[in-house]
Amino acid sequence: MTAQYPLLLDLTGRRVVVVGGGRVGTRRAIAAADAGGRVDVIAPDISPELASDQRIRTFRRAYQPGDVAGAWLVHACTGVPDVDDAVCAEAEAARIWYVRAADAAHSSAAVPAVARVDDVTIAVNAGGDPCRARVLRDAVQLALNTGALPLRRHRAHAGRVALVGGGPGDPELITVRGRRLLAEADVVVTDRLGPRALLAELPSGVEVIDVGKARDHHTRTQSEINELLVSLARQGKFVVRLKGGDPFVLGRGGEELAACMAAGVPCEVVPGVTSAIAVPASAGIPVTQRGVARHFTVLSGHDDVDWRSVVGAGGTLVILMGVSRIDQIAKELVAAGLDESTPAAVVENGTLPHQRVTIATVGTIAPRAQAVGVRPPAVLVVGDVVAWRVTTLGDETVTGAAGLRREDRRIGGRGDETVAPLGDETVAALGDEIAARVSPGRLRVGSPVADDGAGEPASDGRPRGRSRQHAEERG
Ligand SMILES: C[S@@+](CC[C@H](N)C(=O)[O-])C[C@H]1O[C@@H](n2cnc3c(N)ncnc32)[C@H](O)[C@@H]1O
Repeated sequence: MTAQYPLLLDLTGRRVVVVGGGRVGTRRAIAAADAGGRVDVIAPDISPELASDQRIRTFRRAYQPGDVAGAWLVHACTGVPDVDDAVCAEAEAARIWYVRAADAAHSSAAVPAVARVDDVTIAVNAGGDPCRARVLRDAVQLALNTGALPLRRHRAHAGRVALVGGGPGDPELITVRGRRLLAEADVVVTDRLGPRALLAELPSGVEVIDVGKARDHHTRTQSEINELLVSLARQGKFVVRLKGGDPFVLGRGGEELAACMAAGVPCEVVPGVTSAIAVPASAGIPVTQRGVARHFTVLSGHDDVDWRSVVGAGGTLVILMGVSRIDQIAKELVAAGLDESTPAAVVENGTLPHQRVTIATVGTIAPRAQAVGVRPPAVLVVGDVVAWRVTTLGDETVTGAAGLRREDRRIGGRGDETVAPLGDETVAALGDEIAARVSPGRLRVGSPVADDGAGEPASDGRPRGRSRQHAEERG
């Protein structure tokens, strides 16, 4: 068979005749109407779907010679060979393209399996095997949807920005939409934290601007980043601002969105998996747990915090950017009334292969963190959920959670100020106090909560005497 010639038709306002009102005729008629065609369906039996579609004219009768006159495209879908023959013969004589649903080999045109992803149309024909074509179409659509195929535009287009939450670091923890927008990007403006492994997969020609990495000890201020996003979009680029975690959780995404809006630059926000929840989860620590903690508070370790109200609020306390001030934070918590024996955990590099968990109490977490050399990025979790993790999961193998999926990684162990290396984790300082907090009848719900922050850039974007470690923690 001669190779067919693929073509995309503009049916807008053009007459399309569908002969046959069954399943196939209904599908073809609706697709033609969706494409703007002026559709007439001729059949003794018309499906309810066709009958109720205001865009489509229906004629409840058998085909009659002359029915296809004036059409641009004809679908013969009766399934009755003699009728389909007559319809197609009339169309051929009138030089009208015709598709014979039951016999692709005797058609002058073929309908491919179609899918649309944004402004991309996928049309697959697979040697006249519709099922094979659909399977292939679905595979291509999935690959496009998940960002596995490059979607970048090469013709001039309007500039825009997407603030994409990249998740805590594991490249599989970005959302499907985030991944797809990355595949469309002309420029990626990235933080130091987040799924940096994905940057290596970007097609050549995609510009990557790292605004999280201190180059010559100079980190861009927030206002410089805002200006950069606006200026790139004004050059007609699609800018993906790839941020760690969720853009709006201690991530200054709101400022970037506001800057784009103020400049009239279209900006989309793609939520992300925040490290505040995902990093503890990856270490097997639920931020809420029935009977243990019903709420949690997320804070920045760099901010000024009213520790008394934080401690008074109870629940789990999750502190980001807290490593460099862990000693001070622990002391503030105790001074604000938190029991020194409250369990605490530091999870470094959560969801990444080198994730490490250090567990102690509020009274011992700072020296313990120092002893094992805790480094950013890390999340500090304070509360009984940490004890729950240790006592409940014990020595059982945990699979499924990101970071805990290796069969050989075991969690647990109690002991007196012991460091129990379990796989690549360090579980430390599990004193009797922690065990007592989760013993039946002795569970105390109500740990800390907080918020603070020195060292974050001031609202005008200028750094406020930030130390190098503070800068690192910002990601
Ligand atoms: C500037 S905040 C950004 C938080 C981000 N918007 C989010 O929702 O996760 C950076 C802090 O997030 C925490 N963090 C981010 N990714 C982490 C990871 N993979 N492991 C541990 N902590 C992480 C650290 O506390 C780090 O200092």
